[in-house]
Amino acid sequence: MSDSVFPAGNLMKGKRGLVMGVANKNSIAWGIAQQLAAQGAELAFSYQGEELEKRVRPLVESLPGEPFMVTADVTDDASMDACFDTLKARWGKMDFLVHAIAFAGKDELQGSFTHNTTREGFKRAMDVSAFSFVDAAKRASALMPPREEGGGAMISMTYLGSERVVPNYNVMGVAKAALEACTRYIARDLGPLGIRVNAISAGPMRTLAMAGISGGRTLMKTGKEWSMLKEDTRMEGVAGAALYLLSDLGHSCTGEVLHVDAGFHAVAVPDLADED
Ligand SMILES: NC(=O)c1ccc[n+]([C@@H]2O[C@H](COP(=O)([O-])OP(=O)(O)OC[C@H]3O[C@@H](n4cnc5c(N)ncnc54)[C@H](O)[C@@H]3O)[C@@H](O)[C@H]2O)c1
Repeated sequence: MSDSVFPAGNLMKGKRGLVMGVANKNSIAWGIAQQLAAQGAELAFSYQGEELEKRVRPLVESLPGEPFMVTADVTDDASMDACFDTLKARWGKMDFLVHAIAFAGKDELQGSFTHNTTREGFKRAMDVSAFSFVDAAKRASALMPPREEGGGAMISMTYLGSERVVPNYNVMGVAKAALEACTRYIARDLGPLGIRVNAISAGPMRTLAMAGISGGRTLMKTGKEWSMLKEDTRMEGVAGAALYLLSDLGHSCTGEVLHVDAGFHAVAVPDLADED
């Protein structure tokens, strides 16, 4: 386990859930998974095809308990059917879902949003980064216990580029705005079933997805320098927020977008130079 995991506890004991989106040890989904496992959660991991299996398997096998892996490409209905069939066969029921998946083409993550966004690129970003949460939520909720037996909880991962313009984030910002709206609509539908649905808006973190964004290093630097805490967004903060939202600590919290970005989102103007 990494340094960013809090001391072991029982906050997730007896809960089972699917973590979607581990690609390597830097993935946000992996940071969250370690935190949940340290609190006693039983985990399943979906990964995007055989290419990633060799990187994800050693991570999963390092966890306590009996975590298992299942391949799932979120753009492929048959692959999603097979993933949730496996969960149903192994567990019967599940208690939580972590959605940490996004994609946009490299050409679209630079320069002019207006000129560089193609119809296909727009559809793909929306499909992988927003619709996939609607689809996974529908499938996962069907396996969650009734509210009198605890209901369930789900989270998606978003970024401030949904609310404000961030250079080069472009079509992904639009997809994240859709994802946040989807999170609220799903929360409304599943609320009566006792299922809470929230999003975490994390500040910039060094991951594969971040490497795809042109100017990512400047984004990281600005994220730190403009932040209220004057620090990078830390994995333990993001994973801690996930633990709060997915455990019983998060009772009564749903339809929320929780910013975990060292306070960056609330700053309009960075520090001013002294003037005479
Ligand atoms: N890194 C950041 O700065 C940051 C900040 C805020 C939000 N986020 C969000 O966090 C989430 C996780 O990203 P990350 O930064 O950990 O990067 P990552 O590259 O480690 O994770 C992205 C994941 O999406 C998966 N994915 C992409 N297309 C898929 C498909 N068709 N089917 C199944 N899986 C697919 C990849 O396999 C990968 O595991 C994303 O939603 C991202 O937008 C990241």
